[in-house]
Amino acid sequence: MPRPLLALLLSLGLWNAAALAAEPTATRSLATAYGARLKIGAAVEPEQLADADGVLLARQFSSLVAENAMKPLRIHPQEDRYVFGPADALVAFAKQHGLAVRGHTLLWGSHTPDWFWQAADGQPATREQVLQRLKQHIATVVGHYRGRVYAWDVVNEAIDPNQSSCLRDDRWMQVVGPDYLAVAFRAAHAADPQARLFINDFNTQEPAKRDCLARVVKGLLAEGVPVQGIGHQTHISLYWPSLAAIDQSLTTFARLGLENQITELDMSLYQHHDYQPPQPLAQRLNLQAERYRDLMALVLAHPEVTAVTWWGVADDHSWLNHQPGAPGDDQPLLFDRQQRPKPAYWAVLHLRPHE
Ligand code: XIL
Repeated sequence: MPRPLLALLLSLGLWNAAALAAEPTATRSLATAYGARLKIGAAVEPEQLADADGVLLARQFSSLVAENAMKPLRIHPQEDRYVFGPADALVAFAKQHGLAVRGHTLLWGSHTPDWFWQAADGQPATREQVLQRLKQHIATVVGHYRGRVYAWDVVNEAIDPNQSSCLRDDRWMQVVGPDYLAVAFRAAHAADPQARLFINDFNTQEPAKRDCLARVVKGLLAEGVPVQGIGHQTHISLYWPSLAAIDQSLTTFARLGLENQITELDMSLYQHHDYQPPQPLAQRLNLQAERYRDLMALVLAHPEVTAVTWWGVADDHSWLNHQPGAPGDDQPLLFDRQQRPKPAYWAVLHLRPHE
């Protein structure tokens, strides 16, 4: 369908009906439309696999990521105890339905289990002890999923543009210092040399943060640390940020020879902390469709972007509805609370008419 016609239908709010009339849903999916060009993923909890979200995930997507089940607090709650069951269920589902798996995440500063920092005698753990535990954790988790998880978010949310080091002033910095990043990436690479290794963060389009991230990654690459890509979380809204800023950020990392992935995409219908939207819901759903379409067109213009993962399958399950102060009725994804395609779904699907 020609672009101007698409825009007209969207602006008239007729896109959903027009698209539905134009083709049967059963034969097309995001997975087939984007085919070899992009993996299309969704974050999921094991409990969702048996319900309608699981059906939709298998039908529409080509990749999944654990929303929480692989995080250190869940998968390694005590030094001598790993809990692989829930994450194993996700990986088994992926295999059964032919989906790829992203691993999220091996090290997340603010979400590191307390035991990492404590010695047996109740004293604070030493730097060496912490590094030993980090290596052990990564070797065990990446080793467990070797060959089954194609990409890992090795380090999550480490960047802070307000620090001269560009790194968040957390316990990792305080106890270990900036070396923790290199140790984590090297351990992951040793445990699965085929896995693609990412550094993942939010607001990567914000210039100060983007530049800090670029500085940190350049430092790692200069030391020969195996980092292959940048994970851009991309928790955005209808109103923020500009797509031009996202474009510039992708370009920055493409020029460093890195792979880019959109790792946690959602688009709130609200402005940040402002739950009094200026437009009625139907209009915002159409705006969401236009903005998703433009974002995906931008992504397609970046050959180094290899995957787009939504942070949820359908609007019945989104972390945005559990934020403090949120009204709980946000609709940030491509499918509604009954797993029906929204205008945004059709807009994203129809960017790929020929596959
Ligand atoms: C969120 C999950 O969606 C929630 O269920 C959980 O309570 C907190 O974490 N950045 C990340 C994700 O890297 O791991 C976060 O996921 C969302 C923000």
